[in-house]
Amino acid sequence: MIYLNGSFIPIEDARISVLDRGFIFGDGVYEVIPVYSHIPFRLAEHLRRLQKSLDGIQLKNPHTDIEWEKLITQIIVNNEGEDQSIYLHITRGVAPRNHAFPKEVAPTIFIMSSPLIAAPKELIVTGVSAITANDNRWSRCDIKAISLLPNVLLRQMASDSDATETLLLRDGFLSEGSASSIFIVKNKILLVPPKSNFMLPGITYDVVLELAVKYQMPYKIREISENDLRSSDEILLASSTKEIMSITLLDGKKVGSGKPGEVFAQLYQHYQNFKISIMRRESV
Ligand code: PDD
Repeated sequence: MIYLNGSFIPIEDARISVLDRGFIFGDGVYEVIPVYSHIPFRLAEHLRRLQKSLDGIQLKNPHTDIEWEKLITQIIVNNEGEDQSIYLHITRGVAPRNHAFPKEVAPTIFIMSSPLIAAPKELIVTGVSAITANDNRWSRCDIKAISLLPNVLLRQMASDSDATETLLLRDGFLSEGSASSIFIVKNKILLVPPKSNFMLPGITYDVVLELAVKYQMPYKIREISENDLRSSDEILLASSTKEIMSITLLDGKKVGSGKPGEVFAQLYQHYQNFKISIMRRESV
């Protein structure tokens, strides 16, 4: 069951016009919200980022947070599985093709749910591999835009090399992954690239930082050079769908010992405990 412009319908019955500006121009924004035990994780934060993305493309938010919450709750109960990944997508609607915004056109609003599948345990134990590439995206990567062609091409490069993620370097500095936030560890200090217009402000990025503060793990927010990246003891990947993972092979070379490190192990465990505690609290 999906939600499309006011109706809950089976996905097979969903139809949109070929003139939808999402289809024609990629003119829209989206969110991906993880759901654990039927409860959306960090919903307020995802809705806040959605508002920022909408502001970034000058599109009026069609719903209040309470309305979004109701729609998302309906989608969760209408779909199977305790853990789900909610995809929420808003475009500037249907209009004759013209780059400039149409006037008084209703946006297209689409919400769907997919199963949220935890990373296999063996990948938590071994870590995953990544490659690097030049970050050739635009300079508003802070907007969660549906026009994802650069990210798609960059992720495909990883896929073609049997790697999990492509880490992006812009002017010699790490920005993020093609669809994840990236951190490194050097001399037991978690190094966090500062938020900017060249990265998506990840919700999981914020959770990682909060956990580092809460558990008094040493961390520093600072630019990460290519040299830092290549000489790091650990590399961590974070996103709503992948949670926290360790990158143990970069461009075919071992990262540190070639095994997930101590900082990863701690953050991974804290993240799992945090998730459980939030769920307990919210389901009371
Ligand atoms: N992607 N950076 C980029 C470019 C991303 O696409 C994502 C998430 C992140 C991590 O953000 P968050 O922690 O809020 O998930 C960082 C989602 C999962 C996607 O496009 O499917």
